[in-house]
Amino acid sequence: MGIDMPFHRAWLEEDEIQEVIDTLKSGWLTTGPRTHRFEEDFKNYIGCKHALGLNSCTAGLHLSLVALELEPGSEVITTPMTFPATANVVVHERLRPVFVDIEPGTLNIDPAKIEEKISSKTKAIFPVHFAGHPCDMDAIQAIADKHNLVIIEDAAHALESSYKGRKIGNLGNLTSFSFYANKNMTTGEGGMLTINDEELADKIRVMRLHGLNKDAWNRFGKSGFAHWQLHTPGYKYNMTDISAAMGIHQLKKVNQFLELRKRYVEAYDEAFKDLPELETLIRKDYAQSAYHLYIIALRLERLTIDRDQFLQEIQARGIGVAVHYIGLHLQPFYMKEFNTKAEDCPVASSYSERVLTLPLYPKMSDQDVNRVIETVCDIVKKYRR
Ligand SMILES: Cc1ncc(COP(=O)(O)O)c(C=O)c1O
Repeated sequence: MGIDMPFHRAWLEEDEIQEVIDTLKSGWLTTGPRTHRFEEDFKNYIGCKHALGLNSCTAGLHLSLVALELEPGSEVITTPMTFPATANVVVHERLRPVFVDIEPGTLNIDPAKIEEKISSKTKAIFPVHFAGHPCDMDAIQAIADKHNLVIIEDAAHALESSYKGRKIGNLGNLTSFSFYANKNMTTGEGGMLTINDEELADKIRVMRLHGLNKDAWNRFGKSGFAHWQLHTPGYKYNMTDISAAMGIHQLKKVNQFLELRKRYVEAYDEAFKDLPELETLIRKDYAQSAYHLYIIALRLERLTIDRDQFLQEIQARGIGVAVHYIGLHLQPFYMKEFNTKAEDCPVASSYSERVLTLPLYPKMSDQDVNRVIETVCDIVKKYRR
């Protein structure tokens, strides 16, 4: 039996489709009026001063580091419980990622363990709001202030998240969002970097398009050709108007999407709360989650099968699943190049063996959610010790 309930399916309707068609017919495909409109809408949604449309969240993380102009060999503190993009961009800049262990319950970076990893070379902290639950940003900010570090937030999972009532993306740091196909809203591929600092925003705006001081809309658009100048070699990270066409309409639906995600998370929580074989993630009082991923961690000592067998059992019943994540400190590249070991981050190492992610997306129905619940409960019953 194949997978008949996929791990994710995007919610795209006539308005996104029509806007893409209109974009194609307009003749303006790359960064132009629709990207500018999407940036304005996103800025208003987050409440920040600047929003820069990009072709990925990774681009936003990379450009943030580029803009800081750190000396090669400088250290950047981050979590191992993340997608490779977070740490890879650190390596691209010839910097050193330093992994700090995570806190049980949220699987976010543990602020209590950050200071012991700070050295004279540490220049920045990359918190990742794992699964949409915001990190404890006051604690991280206090450490950053004390040691003069820049904070760059990986908000790939955190579109709708707030910390103590303040929207992620508007805490005054560089913050990068993802619109990858399976994110809470999508543009196929795409990202947005939010910034309140005007000088940094101006610098990154230029760096996202080769380093040219005018984008194509300003070179060839309505007002005719204009010369550009190159002051520094930049990157090819700009958003296209085809992507922005989707983004404009997806953004209008995020609250509707969030309500559905929340409802499904509550159903999962309720169904699993009395199963001692499963650990579900907690939500702290300060947090408004974006409910991006629904993670369960298996209590392996109570089961006769391991995580991968559990995962296969779910898939064998036609349901798509995923793993977020096997820690980066356990990945061959980081182990070889940066000498990372399982003992460096014991909490992340333990969760890396035990977590799996169930389907959670607005396109699911209540019946789909019930089917996942029944499947997971059946497997637990079958394999409990
Ligand atoms: C935590 C995290 N950071 C960064 C990224 C990269 O996002 P993008 O694919 O938009 O570059 C992802 C994507 O899955 C992610 O999950």
